[in-house]
Amino acid sequence: MKLIIKGRRPLSGRVRVHGSKNAVLPIIAASLLVDGETVITQVPHLEDVHTAVEVMASLGVDARLRGSTLTLRPEGLSSFEAPYDYVRRMRASFLVTGPLLARLGRARISLPGGCAIGSRPIDLHLKGLEALGARIRVGHGYIEASAAERLTGSRVYLDYPSVGATEHLMMASCLAEGTTVIENAAEEPEIVDLANYLNAAGASIYGAGTKVIRIEGVRALKGVRHQVIPDRIEAGTYMVAAAITGGYVEIEGVVPDHLTAVSAKLREMGVDVVEDENSILVNASRRRLKAVNIKTMPYPGFPTDMQAPFMALLAVAEGTGVVTETVFENRLIHVVEMVRMGADIQVDGRVATVQGRRSLYGAPVTATDLRGGAALVLAGLGAVGVTEVSGVEHIDRGYDSLDANLRRLGASVRRVRPRETADGRLAAGTTGGLAGGRH
Ligand code: EPZ
Repeated sequence: MKLIIKGRRPLSGRVRVHGSKNAVLPIIAASLLVDGETVITQVPHLEDVHTAVEVMASLGVDARLRGSTLTLRPEGLSSFEAPYDYVRRMRASFLVTGPLLARLGRARISLPGGCAIGSRPIDLHLKGLEALGARIRVGHGYIEASAAERLTGSRVYLDYPSVGATEHLMMASCLAEGTTVIENAAEEPEIVDLANYLNAAGASIYGAGTKVIRIEGVRALKGVRHQVIPDRIEAGTYMVAAAITGGYVEIEGVVPDHLTAVSAKLREMGVDVVEDENSILVNASRRRLKAVNIKTMPYPGFPTDMQAPFMALLAVAEGTGVVTETVFENRLIHVVEMVRMGADIQVDGRVATVQGRRSLYGAPVTATDLRGGAALVLAGLGAVGVTEVSGVEHIDRGYDSLDANLRRLGASVRRVRPRETADGRLAAGTTGGLAGGRH
């Protein structure tokens, strides 16, 4: 699939964000820990969520997604193996290791590979699980983990405030014997949401959202109903879409506090950002935006997932912006594609220097990762002419109906099959039926 975008249309109107991908994925894994039914509401329709549901079903969990409500019943749990095919498709499948250890005392999980943005090691996860008493062997592309009767609470210091490792250890220690303390924990809102779900199920987790989280092990957890928090990165993406098109957009169903760093940086660039109870109004006058410097940091710092989207904005801002990516080692891969659209960006290691241009120009570009792909769509929305973004499957992993929502805001975005041209003809040498956009 690819998206055909005609740029320079100021967006206007309202858009409601979906539930958070990065909150719902760990909560799906955590549902293995409870006796009884978990009902998760406000679940986004994403490839990654569908993969997570398939992983649950492969373990013997009764998992059903109806609309945006996901019901999970783990009593039929019959396997402790997460095969390569699932983990390859979605690294977060690996988070089932801790819950399987806690429930079955065993887990055989394919080693998650790296991805476009980095090698994505899991050393902090494994070190933490071993501190809780798990025996871990790695070989032939698999992690073999086993534990005695129950995991044992322990003090774990994370060398880096890893989001996944914090979530993983919080889940694994819920049913452990004794107390676990996670130090230098990640503080992201998705961790607080996971803790809220687990505490509602009967866990005793204190300090989620701070650097020190204490978990007192309990004997059992019971299934509960939980609504996931809104997706702050989806919201930030629409905020940038409004800014890059000089538009006026209200993003609804958000938690403004989760977007403090993003709102602050947009205001610094000259965008009007007005926060209400659970919505954010972005009013980007036609005046050209001013360049700013961005340095990605663990929450509450500027989110790494918003780095690529902001790069698109800096590419057409006035002045020079310096972007430093401190979280992942290879998360500047979208730069080459933006340069093909006329952006003036120099990369030196993890630092990109962006000389703002009056505008970018539409071109055929390719997404190679989720947020880089979204950034190319944003660049296309602001560019002169037509941009064709291929690799839309990367974008569909993390955005529910991005193109449909942008169309509703007035953008000219069409989803077409790979070999269809911008004006709807099938390119020479193409077989197959009539071209048809997705409605
Ligand atoms: C989560 O990934 C998110 N994914 C990412 O979102 C997000 O970019 C990232 O957190 C940072 O906020 C999900 O929640 C599913 P980390 P995660 O562990 O948990 C290093 C998106 O676009 N590290 O905080 O994998 C790691 O290499 C995705 O929605 C270790 O060295 O991120 C990286 O440099 C992309 N050893 C840094 O920590 C470990 O054991 C941050 O990774 C674990 C991580």
